[in-house]
Amino acid sequence: MGLIEKYGTPLKFTYLPKIGSQINKARDYFKDAFEKHQYKANYNYCYCTKSSHFSFVLKEVLKNKVDIETSSAFDLSIVRRLEEKGQFNKNQYIICNGFKTETYAENMANMVKDGYNNLVCVLDNPEEFDLIESKTSSHTNLGIRIATEEEPNFLVYTSRLGMSSKKIVDLYQAKIQNHPNFKLKLLHFFVNSGIKDTTYFWSELTRLVNVYCDVKEVCPDLDTLDIGGGMPIYTSLGVELDYAYMIDQIVYYIKTICESRGVSEPHIFTEFGSFTVGESGGSLYSIIGQKEQNDKELWYMINSSFITTLPDTWGIGQKFILLAVNQWDKEFQRINLGGLTCDSQDFYNSDTNSNQVFMPKLKQGDVLHMGFFHTGAYQESLGGYGGIQHCLIPAPKHILIDKDSEGKFSYEVFAEEQKPESMLNILGY
Ligand SMILES: Cc1ncc(COP(=O)(O)O)c(C=O)c1O
Repeated sequence: MGLIEKYGTPLKFTYLPKIGSQINKARDYFKDAFEKHQYKANYNYCYCTKSSHFSFVLKEVLKNKVDIETSSAFDLSIVRRLEEKGQFNKNQYIICNGFKTETYAENMANMVKDGYNNLVCVLDNPEEFDLIESKTSSHTNLGIRIATEEEPNFLVYTSRLGMSSKKIVDLYQAKIQNHPNFKLKLLHFFVNSGIKDTTYFWSELTRLVNVYCDVKEVCPDLDTLDIGGGMPIYTSLGVELDYAYMIDQIVYYIKTICESRGVSEPHIFTEFGSFTVGESGGSLYSIIGQKEQNDKELWYMINSSFITTLPDTWGIGQKFILLAVNQWDKEFQRINLGGLTCDSQDFYNSDTNSNQVFMPKLKQGDVLHMGFFHTGAYQESLGGYGGIQHCLIPAPKHILIDKDSEGKFSYEVFAEEQKPESMLNILGY
């Protein structure tokens, strides 16, 4: 309420300390699992920049001495800028994933030449080797992405991202093994379902660790397994996530499979995006009207749009923690939340655990504010930020909240609500 009273709604906020606490939480769980299973290699926490590219996020992430995973050419321009500002040093890892365009390959080659010693170019397909080879004569570390098999109910059998295990060994033996400039150091995969306690996840993990062992048998330089992102976050207050168990089991599987294959255990890298930044973000709205369309369907209209400010709710049916911010003493009733655009899909009416949403009953003149929490990852990258959006709904004000070592909070306006001039400009008026 304090934030709302001071800044108004619609409002996005980022609670910066959450980023560091998430990073340290994962590190602690990996440390415990390594000790328990006597795992004799290192754990590296990389941040997947595509989940939020904002400077305030990267600054906070890098305070915690993590490494970086990139997805495209411009990501590398961000890394260079961070290095110029002293927030990143040239010995930190840069794991370059994603499809390699000419520009992306050129940027990588230039950075290796400029002394970014731990840049790893992760090949998505065999042709990318030829591309990167044509751009550089410096020593370059390589990784290869292993294609995962999708969940049985998915629309395709094998992920379009990465290469099959047979192609990896062929590529290594044909082009990398005897090349003076390239070393294959890392294998990477990303299980699309995310890290979940399901038979599918564990059997895919087992298969992929076995692929690591197959390649390690022919490639002694290989020493790192990058298991991607996908660590879940809380999208409901009614579910308990057992991070300790999941991380313990991942370490156990990797250790025991490698041991049984006579292969030394790899360094483990992760690229957590949502896990790093998701829980730091929130979106606050006010209800500016009610509509009763029939005797069952009551609409509360928010003063913004789901499609434009929380596009995952619309695109992939993503749920977030939803709470009323005030009026908690009122009776609650089932409602539908409607956004301001004219799109019939601009609504939110079901929670993670139930197909319903409840909010306080309002009398004439009552003011209700509500918040979606843990919305810090992907929403701006997907919805666009400060550009032209559906029905010209403006991007909300964005506030950064920090806490110092004495527990004192500070607030900074990162961006004011978008103004009409910025849209008219883009539209050519
Ligand atoms: C290669 C790769 N690594 C990491 C991530 C981060 O995933 P998440 O945000 O689920 O942790 C993604 C997300 O798409 C990805 O494609």
